[in-house]
Amino acid sequence: MLVHIPAVLTPEQAAQCRRALDEAQWVDGRNSAGPAAARVKNNQEIPTSHPVAQHWGQNILNALGASPMFIATALPLRIAPPMFNRYLVGETYGTHNDAALFNTPGAVVRADLSATLFLTPPGEYDGGELTIEDIYGEHRVKLAAGDLILYPAWSQHRVQPVTRGARISSFMWLQSMIRDDEKRSLLVDLDRARAKLNRAAPDNPGMVQMLGVYHNLLRMWAET
Ligand code: NI
Repeated sequence: MLVHIPAVLTPEQAAQCRRALDEAQWVDGRNSAGPAAARVKNNQEIPTSHPVAQHWGQNILNALGASPMFIATALPLRIAPPMFNRYLVGETYGTHNDAALFNTPGAVVRADLSATLFLTPPGEYDGGELTIEDIYGEHRVKLAAGDLILYPAWSQHRVQPVTRGARISSFMWLQSMIRDDEKRSLLVDLDRARAKLNRAAPDNPGMVQMLGVYHNLLRMWAET
């Protein structure tokens, strides 16, 4: 399931982050790719050890931690440190798979979900759409600065060539407490239904029962 999470950062924060990244030292994005992905990857990245990446990476993690929509849809257990990439005119990342496991300080993160946080306003560049293939077909995603897309890490995806301007974004992988996409989608649907019913009939005793079902499914399926 693809989930669009609006306003993880405000447009002002996204612009501030972009300015900080502009002054940092970008390196060839192939440095962080395996041999198969490196053949189709043509962009730039900022190493996670760079102070700007660490500072803004932490800001992004804090913002995600404060987002009820992100928590409810990702049910995150571990998030790898956010990374940053840039595509200039003619740059692209062809169809590839993300790796399954990431070594991070302190833990291995199994990539259940991939996330891209758009940092450049869509009017400032042409092309650069994130194209994701899942069981329903192809989805082209280009979001406002500060918005995030969550998508299954098992999907094949690519970044269309940029034809004007520059596309800067942050991306990260996360391990969910619910490994299976179908189970997680079911929990998200149930939680959304609960929220709607809670607004319409907060005192209905069925609400308590429904919340109980949600938590009991979580108890049955969650890995912690
Ligand atoms: Ni990827």
